[in-house]
Amino acid sequence: MNVPDLFQPLAFTRGPELKNRLLLAPLTNKQSNEDGTVSDHDIAWIGRCARDGYGMTMTCATNVQRAGKGFHGQLGIYDDRHVEGLARLAALIRAGGSVSSVQLHHSGARALGGVNGIPAGPSGDIADGARTLSTAEVEHLRDDFITAAQRADTAGFDGVELHGAFGHVLAQFLSPTLNTRTDPYGGTLEGRSRLIFEIIEGIRNACRPDFQLGLRLSTERFGLQVAEIRDVAAEAIHTGSIDYLDMALHDIDKTTDEDEFKGRTLLSLFTDLPRGNVKLGASGKVMSARKAAAALQTGCDFVMIGRAAILQPGFPKRVQHDHDHRSPELPVTQTHLEEAGLSPAFINYMREGWDDFVAPDTVLASK
Ligand SMILES: Cc1cc2nc3c(=O)[nH]c(=O)nc-3n(C[C@H](O)[C@H](O)[C@H](O)COP(=O)(O)O)c2cc1C
Repeated sequence: MNVPDLFQPLAFTRGPELKNRLLLAPLTNKQSNEDGTVSDHDIAWIGRCARDGYGMTMTCATNVQRAGKGFHGQLGIYDDRHVEGLARLAALIRAGGSVSSVQLHHSGARALGGVNGIPAGPSGDIADGARTLSTAEVEHLRDDFITAAQRADTAGFDGVELHGAFGHVLAQFLSPTLNTRTDPYGGTLEGRSRLIFEIIEGIRNACRPDFQLGLRLSTERFGLQVAEIRDVAAEAIHTGSIDYLDMALHDIDKTTDEDEFKGRTLLSLFTDLPRGNVKLGASGKVMSARKAAAALQTGCDFVMIGRAAILQPGFPKRVQHDHDHRSPELPVTQTHLEEAGLSPAFINYMREGWDDFVAPDTVLASK
């Protein structure tokens, strides 16, 4: 696979074809209004990304319940009043020639307690001050994920991605250490993954037939076990109800230390799975044209672009015109990010939330 292969169109089972295989990863940016509605900064950022040339443009993690809010400035999809702003984002993405998706998210036991009362997850001991969701509340959570997908559908998005990665609520349920429930949503892997599969089936039944559905999974930390995550991925593919699997890896070249697979790359454990019509993509330190092409070479159908999308507008267009394109080296200055179109809130998040991303800015520091 070579760089031009990244620009082969990609068709999912459902919904519109993607014009290329470089997709914008979900990127939290903490710049929405505090009530979860879309801000002018969201419009500017998504408008910029929509013009960048990605095959699909995905929103940041967007919370499906008020109680699931994970951070200030998070985009919301838990209320009908969010639909109007979301529809503006969907229209911008479509006008940019990109397929659109909302990432559906809930922070579970790690939600902002101070804003929403007591955070709750599969088990109360996950975080200080958290409590355990009752079975009825888990069913309610499932239904709120499905209703959120319907809102995305109403807003004109081509699909949604379920955020099952990084220790947020769906990964909390998957984790054998974080989920100590004894009801049908705990116990064996079948029980711990039940919530995800009920949401997938619910979205399939509630949204229009060509609505695209992706599942994001990660394999590390939070007690997650790669063998189990591989089984969940295989089952999600087997249902035929998802269009794509998005593996969130720290680095697409990373190998695993787990005994069963020692020395193998995490990615190879997923590219090896029979996948039928379900497409497979991954993210993790893809900062150059060559590395993106290498991800296709290892068996991915598409590549998710995270930090490279933040660092400079137009990653796909740059890759298309320069097969040796590389993103700027980290860290970059505040001025660099301002020129790349980031809002003050987004830059602040990159400074405080991500090590070695924003360097002291000599221009501003001298003032
Ligand atoms: C600023 C920032 C915000 C992120 N927000 C999200 C998010 O909302 N949802 C999610 O699933 N992953 C999120 N991620 C992870 C990225 O989607 C991606 O998987 C990760 O950054 C690895 O890709 P990269 O090396 O290309 O950045 C975020 C990453 C960054 C840098």
